[in-house]
Amino acid sequence: MLTDKFGRNINYLRLAIVDRCNLRCTYCMPEKGLSWIKQNELMTDEEMLRICSVFTEMGVDKIRITGGEPFVRKNSIKLIQKISELEELTDLSITTNGLLTEQYIPQLKKYGIKSVNLSLDTLDRDRFFKITRRNSFDKVMKTLDRLLQYDIKVKINTVVMEGENTEDIIPLVMLTKDLPVDVRFIEEMPFNGGETDISLKWNFTQIYSHIKDHFPEIQKTDDPKSSTSYNYKIPDFEGSVGIIAAYTRSFCGDCNRIRITPSGILRTCLYEGTGINLKHEIRMGKTDEELKNIIISSIHKKPKDGWEAEKLSLTASQIHQSMATIGG
Ligand code: 5AD
Ligand code: SF4
Repeated sequence: MLTDKFGRNINYLRLAIVDRCNLRCTYCMPEKGLSWIKQNELMTDEEMLRICSVFTEMGVDKIRITGGEPFVRKNSIKLIQKISELEELTDLSITTNGLLTEQYIPQLKKYGIKSVNLSLDTLDRDRFFKITRRNSFDKVMKTLDRLLQYDIKVKINTVVMEGENTEDIIPLVMLTKDLPVDVRFIEEMPFNGGETDISLKWNFTQIYSHIKDHFPEIQKTDDPKSSTSYNYKIPDFEGSVGIIAAYTRSFCGDCNRIRITPSGILRTCLYEGTGINLKHEIRMGKTDEELKNIIISSIHKKPKDGWEAEKLSLTASQIHQSMATIGG
């Protein structure tokens, strides 16, 4: 079992397999994209698998594949298949923007993918273009349809932004009336790869009261342990609604997660500026035992919460990193 100095059990690894993306969401990266990681800095499939295998031997039983956009990585489906074969793994899931995903759904089902998080910030084609700077709304909606057809659990991730998509909040809640989806509204975080600071008008409280105004009958449901979302349901609706206080960071107390960036950096908190580069350790010839010791001491030092992490390692360049390089 992996434990940090606050006694939190770490059993959940978020593995970003690529930093590139085929969208340019304004809250994530500038229009021209980022300076992408060089090919030789990106971990190979073998390195990623080795890291996953080491972590699962240490008690990690849940892995989420993220990016960038995971399916932009060459042969990502093969890598996903190999990861799905790790014995100790009980929960493998993916976060995707849905552009290239549809064709892989039958395979995802076959490999036992438990749930897919689909990024979708609006139900309006024009606003989709404005937010993502690409014209791919129909593709995402087709992916959503197909995932549901295949009975794969879908969580929709919506970043709420003043002046961009607040008129979508209620229509997105309405989507849960007839569809068994979990729509999660996320507070915007400052990880946009650019210069702009964010004004967090739409924090948890604001999002909740907006929904409550329209659906006074909304009910709180149980939040599973280590859940980052506060969960709700409108009575008689098929799906559910969640709010993720990603900026307010009110859920760190029982955090169970760590991240690996596409270049192999272990980040024990999203708000941490940097971390140990496990790919370098692998390339220096470290054995599994040596890797495990490095991981144990690194996780032991996991910051108490996102606020402490930010304070410990904040430099100007780190404030504006992108979720695509950190791992969404
Ligand atoms: N703030 C909040 N969430 C973000 N994501 C990406 N960038 C940000 C940000 N600045 C989330 C989106 C997307 C996932 C990959 O990461 O919800 O669905
Ligand atoms: Fe791509 Fe996701 Fe970033 Fe949008 S938020 S640009 S889909 S990585």
